Amino acid sequence: VFPEASNASEAAALEIATLVRSRAAEGRTCVLGLATGSTVVNVYSAMVRMHREQGLSFANVAVFVLDEFLPMGPESLQSHVRFMNEHLFDHIDLPRDQIHIPDGNTPQDELAEYCLMFENEIAELGGIDMLILGIGRTGHIGFNEPGSGTDSRTRPITLDAMTRIDAASNFFGVENVPRRAITMGVGTILDARRIILLAFGEGKASIVARAIEGEIAPAVPATFLQQHDDVEFFLDSAAAANLT
Ligand code: F6R
Repeated sequence: VFPEASNASEAAALEIATLVRSRAAEGRTCVLGLATGSTVVNVYSAMVRMHREQGLSFANVAVFVLDEFLPMGPESLQSHVRFMNEHLFDHIDLPRDQIHIPDGNTPQDELAEYCLMFENEIAELGGIDMLILGIGRTGHIGFNEPGSGTDSRTRPITLDAMTRIDAASNFFGVENVPRRAITMGVGTILDARRIILLAFGEGKASIVARAIEGEIAPAVPATFLQQHDDVEFFLDSAAAANLT
């Protein structure tokens, strides 16, 4: 628990940088899984700053972004492609062909095959070394809404009403928020070797407490993180307020 969100964001960026550097020293690829959303913005700005000021290189990094709305074109204002470009990818030396973001333009009849390919790409690179997560008020990680179990893999999913309400301001009204998304599954997430989940503000306090202290169940998919042996929550004091 950090006094301020900014301290937590800096600390998370430092963990990423340390891993990227150690992998580079070994001549190995570092595979990161990255979330989008307001929580992680300052983690990415700290990574950009470390690139500019300390020469931190992302040349040996591969990134898998957790999710994307469906349907969603890459140029749309609300696409995760655009979010990641604006906050991170346009400002660092990460080779474009090492970036993997679920394609929100995938036709309906190709979705199953596409999701399998996404999973295969993760496996071919040896799995995810470090996964950076946020958490939704529904308890979702990625877009794994309530009902998602540990056997779930990358797949299309229907978004919870609360998630669509939370996204409404970005879409200029809830009626414009897509009803579906493609997301890594809970099983995909739990396969990552190390997980850091960030959550800030009083609006996240009750779901953070349920995720950490509640009964493990698909009703709150983030509770499955309790089964992972290398997971840390980076919280500000407001998000930690309901922990016993
Ligand atoms: C988005 C994602 C989601 C968000 C969560 C929190 O890629 O993986 O699980 O992390 O919805 O969103 P913010 O940070 O906007 O509160």
